[in-house]
Amino acid sequence: MVTTNHLMIMFLSLIFLLHTASVALSDLRPAFYSKTCPEAEFIVRDVMKKVLIREPRSVASVMRFQFHDCFVNGCDASMLLDDTPTMLGEKLALSNINSLRSFEVIDEVKEALEKACPGIVSCADIIIMASRDAVALTGGPNWNVRLGRLDSLTANQEDSNNIMPSPRANASALINLFQNYNLSVKDLVALSGSHSIGKARCFSIMFRLYNQSGTGKPDPAIDPDYRKELNKLCPIDVDQNVTGNLDATPLVFDNQYFKDLVGGRGFLNSDQTLFSFHQTREFVELYSRDQYEFFDAFVEGMLKMGDLQSGRPGEVRKNCRLVNVRPAFASSDS
Ligand code: HEM
Ligand SMILES: *[C@@H]1O[C@H](CO)[C@@H](O)[C@H](O)[C@H]1NC(C)=O
Ligand SMILES: *[C@@H]1O[C@H](CO)[C@@H](O)[C@H](O)[C@H]1NC(C)=O
Ligand SMILES: *[C@@H]1O[C@H](CO)[C@@H](O)[C@H](O)[C@H]1NC(C)=O
Ligand SMILES: *[C@@H]1O[C@H](CO)[C@@H](O)[C@H](O)[C@H]1NC(C)=O
Repeated sequence: MVTTNHLMIMFLSLIFLLHTASVALSDLRPAFYSKTCPEAEFIVRDVMKKVLIREPRSVASVMRFQFHDCFVNGCDASMLLDDTPTMLGEKLALSNINSLRSFEVIDEVKEALEKACPGIVSCADIIIMASRDAVALTGGPNWNVRLGRLDSLTANQEDSNNIMPSPRANASALINLFQNYNLSVKDLVALSGSHSIGKARCFSIMFRLYNQSGTGKPDPAIDPDYRKELNKLCPIDVDQNVTGNLDATPLVFDNQYFKDLVGGRGFLNSDQTLFSFHQTREFVELYSRDQYEFFDAFVEGMLKMGDLQSGRPGEVRKNCRLVNVRPAFASSDS
């Protein structure tokens, strides 16, 4: 005899399957939410506008999420998951700990979207839309994003540790890293232009100020006057959480970053190295002269990076920090 309990379990299993066994590789497209949540892009833009007024740097911090999300097992919001007793998430990975910030902005966007259209818009898509908005709202280009990503069911701290580049990286290591994702030298240089907005910690540059490559000397590529400024900002005994601007106009998305690199005034070693190496220098020079070339290449790079997918099963999370709760009996399936 089929009991109500059995029926209940069958019903819940069906719900479970419908919710998690979704396609592995989504077909991303513009206007993905035009029927299911037509206001989605306005809602995200609106929250980002408010956030920009409240704390200007935070839109840069959010834009950085796209890089740290998409490079580690695809754009699946895995880096937004909090640690659990059984899963070490990506928030405490080497490149993220004490560094990634403004997670609360994503929570705010998600809350607004859940109010308007519950359970529809993925956290992975929120990162993509919010990153675009961060650029558009600070003076950079605006573009149409492709949407329809799913959120991961897990995160992987070790993968993040192994993949995300150090601020010590040189251009040749960065070229190789980006090549793994079919991102070209041009994409690498253009995407590094994201450092046109935001800040970084003294922690990320101490070695190049005082002991570049174990020489006991500063990085010779730093302009002497700029080095004096950096030494003042980050003396040897500084609290290494103190931050400095990534370029001379950290609230405006423009090509100042590339002008700074040409002048030896790049903040990070990974920035300045793009001017030191000949393969990347031609693009740095081009973008320093022509902001439109930079904007075009940046948009192309963001679209390509945004298309990276893991092919693993996913869901639309209700809370970007947690995977959705499932019936206990179904947990062995996931
Ligand atoms: C090319 C290799 C890259 C390296 C080695 C790198 C490294 C870094 C480092 C070390 C910081 C400062 C972290 C700290 O001191 O706490 C930083 C900040 C930042 N990065 Fe990158 N990055 C790279 C590419 C990118 C890309 C592709 C994007 C986005 C498309 C991006 C966006 C940002 C932003 C916006 C900030 C400032 C964040 C804030 O103010 O909170 N970066 N990056
Ligand atoms: C660049 O960095 C890689 C990895 O750290 C290193 O093996 C290589 O020697 C460096 N290349 C140059 C030219 O400095
Ligand atoms: C890069 O392109 C190659 C050849 O088209 C493809 O096989 C590979 O899956 C791509 N890699 C990524 C990460 O998209
Ligand atoms: C610089 O780094 C090298 C190699 O990592 C180390 O042996 C040396 O002690 C450092 N020098 C200073 C002054 O910290
Ligand atoms: C920065 O601050 C965090 C948390 O407040 C602390 O745990 C960390 O040790 C500090 N980092 C550095 C490099 O001083």
